[in-house]
Amino acid sequence: MTLRFDTIIKNGTVVTDVDTFKSDVGIRDGKIAALADDLTEADEIIDASGLLVLPGGIDSHVHIAQASGDGIVMADDFDSGTLSAAFGGNTTILPFCMQEKGTTLRQSLKDYHAKAEGECHIDVSFHLVITDPTAYVLGQELPALVEDGYTSLKVFMTYENLRLFDDQILATLDSARRSGALVMVHCENEDAIRYLIGRHEEKGEFAPKFHALSRPVAAEREATHRALSLAEVVDTPIVIVHVSNRQAMEEIERARRRGSKVAGETCPQYLLLTADDLDATELEGAKFVCSPPPRDRESQIACWEGLQNGTFELFSSDHCPFRYDDDQGKMNEKGKRNFRWIPNGIPGVETRLPILFSEGVNKGRIDINRFVALSSTNHAKQYGLYPQKGTIAIGSDADIALWDPSRSVTITNDSLHHGADYTPYEGLEVEGWPVRVLLRGRTIIDGPAYTGHKGGGIHLKREKTFRPAP
Ligand code: URP
Ligand code: ZN
Ligand code: ZN
Repeated sequence: MTLRFDTIIKNGTVVTDVDTFKSDVGIRDGKIAALADDLTEADEIIDASGLLVLPGGIDSHVHIAQASGDGIVMADDFDSGTLSAAFGGNTTILPFCMQEKGTTLRQSLKDYHAKAEGECHIDVSFHLVITDPTAYVLGQELPALVEDGYTSLKVFMTYENLRLFDDQILATLDSARRSGALVMVHCENEDAIRYLIGRHEEKGEFAPKFHALSRPVAAEREATHRALSLAEVVDTPIVIVHVSNRQAMEEIERARRRGSKVAGETCPQYLLLTADDLDATELEGAKFVCSPPPRDRESQIACWEGLQNGTFELFSSDHCPFRYDDDQGKMNEKGKRNFRWIPNGIPGVETRLPILFSEGVNKGRIDINRFVALSSTNHAKQYGLYPQKGTIAIGSDADIALWDPSRSVTITNDSLHHGADYTPYEGLEVEGWPVRVLLRGRTIIDGPAYTGHKGGGIHLKREKTFRPAP
């Protein structure tokens, strides 16, 4: 019997988080249907000679179209954000649905689904952000939403309007534990930061570089320790997101040695940028304002070690784009005068994977299987999408990125597809690029051409990733 497929990818090298092997890939009805030699019968044959056949990237930390207050507008909507992600080799992103204080989670989800509906070029799945953990939210809404497939949420320990106090964090962790929701924590000590911002302002220090100085390693380390301790008190797994330095990493490692279930995430900005980038001429340092801020060379080395040794399972972009030369972005009237008002966040959803491939795989810091784990498989496992997503296996969605491992590209903002007017990585030369991307079996990126369609991405329900405690 001859097997017939919609598409066959021929002559490529298939890579998963554990294996590397020569195989053709047969795709039928959007799923991987065969991994074998010499598949022949298909409507479409893609020649992947010289290319790596990888699971499409999953970026589990992305901010899109989030209300940012005070006349500030995020640079990406779901159209541009998911298009940019696709060109960067991704087939799924997990953006945040931010609860506005005083509203319910259901209402927030309705708003974010309305923003995303018919706009997405790749698949999406929302994390919740809890900013107002009322008894109704924690007792009624969260458990029901977890059953509906929203199985993760984020809490903030910083930002005046978003931060939760320790008793609120405990209550949220406890509800999450009972519901089976995984909690992501932004760890910075808000009181220390507010105090330091005040000190800089008293001294007339308003330039972007003081953003980094007002958010020191100690503020991140302390909050990381506290988040891990609170999670230990109620015995629930957590993810420490966007870790920037060795001291915070050591807190994660210590908690693991005590038996805590904790995942760690870092991002490209902590591998390539430093606080010195915020000290650029005039106000250009605003382009690098994000939280936690980039640190120093030693912190970059530490973060690479964490990617190598398993302190970090997740490598995400924390894409949070604002235009620079824009009074609704970094250069809003107040932001020009005082770093306190520069919106926090930088773009990076399109550059995350080429940076990790080039700096990681091609420079010998990680192998290609670790690349797949950090960029796709671990995100799917951590957040309840595996094995539908995040691997190349029979029965999985045919979400595939074909990588040319030796293609050299100079990153420039002009070549990217996000809505921001700059990239923090302008001029960076990378080797290795995703030259073709398939979403559920259909080619959506073919070299420089976009061949997908707006609305081709769907919202994904996710499984629980741990058993709710009795
Ligand atoms: O500066 C950052 N990272 N902005 C995005 C929001 C967050 O904290 O993840
Ligand atoms: Zn955060
Ligand atoms: Zn973020």
